[in-house]
Amino acid sequence: PVASGPYADRFGGQLVLVTGAGSGIGRATAFAFAEAGARVVAVDRDAESAARTAEMARLIGSPEAWAETVDVSDEQSMEKLAEKVATEYGVVDVLVNNAGIGLSGSFFDTSTEDWKKVLDVNLWGVIHGCRLFGKQMAERGQGGHIVNTASAAAYQPSKALPAYSTSKAAVLMLSECLRAELAGQGIGVSAICPGFVNTNITSTARFAGVDAIEEKRRQKKSARMYGLRNYPPEKVADAILRAVVRNQAVVPVTPEARGAHLMS
Ligand code: NAI
Repeated sequence: PVASGPYADRFGGQLVLVTGAGSGIGRATAFAFAEAGARVVAVDRDAESAARTAEMARLIGSPEAWAETVDVSDEQSMEKLAEKVATEYGVVDVLVNNAGIGLSGSFFDTSTEDWKKVLDVNLWGVIHGCRLFGKQMAERGQGGHIVNTASAAAYQPSKALPAYSTSKAAVLMLSECLRAELAGQGIGVSAICPGFVNTNITSTARFAGVDAIEEKRRQKKSARMYGLRNYPPEKVADAILRAVVRNQAVVPVTPEARGAHLMS
C-alpha cells in the first residue's frame, strides 16, 4: 500500500504511538496515521482489538504496525512499553494519549473506587505516557508532538459526569503546562476536546446514581440542537492529525464542543 490522504507526505516514516487504539477514536486515529504512511504502535488493554487495529493499519498503508497490550494506568507496564518501543521500534515522533473510560454518576453517588478508576486511566495514563515518551523525545532532541484526548467535558460541567469531567479538565491543564515546558524543544502538545462522538464509550458508559432518563434526555436535546447524532470518530482523527501539523494547543472538535468552548 502507498501512503495517501491529505497528510501523506507529512507522516511518512514517522513513528506514531496511539493508546486506546483498539476502538473508536484511537482506532480511527491509528488508521489515519497509517494512511499517511506512519509506522504505528497500537496500544490497548484489549489484546485482540489492538492486534486487529495493527493488522488493519498495515493493510491501509502503514509500512510497519505493531500491537501492544498495556493498561495505561499501570506505571510499570508503561515503563516496560516505553523501553521496548525505544529499543525495538525507535523514538516516538507522535504520541497520542487517547485511552479513556467513561464512568458516570452524580458527585455523591460516585464511590472512592470509581473516582480512582477514572483518574487512574484518564489522568494517570496520560501522565505516564507524557513523562515516559516525552522524555525520550526531549532526549533525542529532534522535536515531536504529543496529543492528549481531553473532552468538551473538561470545560462543560455536567451533573452526570463529575469524575470524568474532572479527569478531562486535568488533562487539558496538564497539556497546556507541558506545552509551555516543551515549546523550546520543538515538541508540541495538543489537547483534543471532542463533544459527543459515536463510539463504544458513549454507548456503554455506566450511569450510576444519576437519573439516567434525565441524562439521556439532555443528550438527545443537545444532539438535536447541534445535529450531531452521528459524529464519526474519523473526524476526530482528522482533527488530531491537523493539530499535529498546525501545532494547535486546544482543539474543540464537534459542533457542541466548539459552542461550549466559546462560551467558557
Ligand atoms: P472507546 O471506548 O471506543 O475506546 C477506548 C479504548 O481505550 C478501548 O479500546 C479500550 O479498550 C481502551 N482502554 C480503556 N482503558 C484502557 C487502559 N487502562 N489502558 C489501555 N487501553 C484502555 O471510546 P472512545 O470514544 O474512542 O474514547 C477515546 C478517548 O476519547 C477517551 O479518552 C474518551 O474519554 C475521549 N472522548 C470521547 C468522546 C466520545 O463522545 N466518544 C468525547 C470526548 C472525549
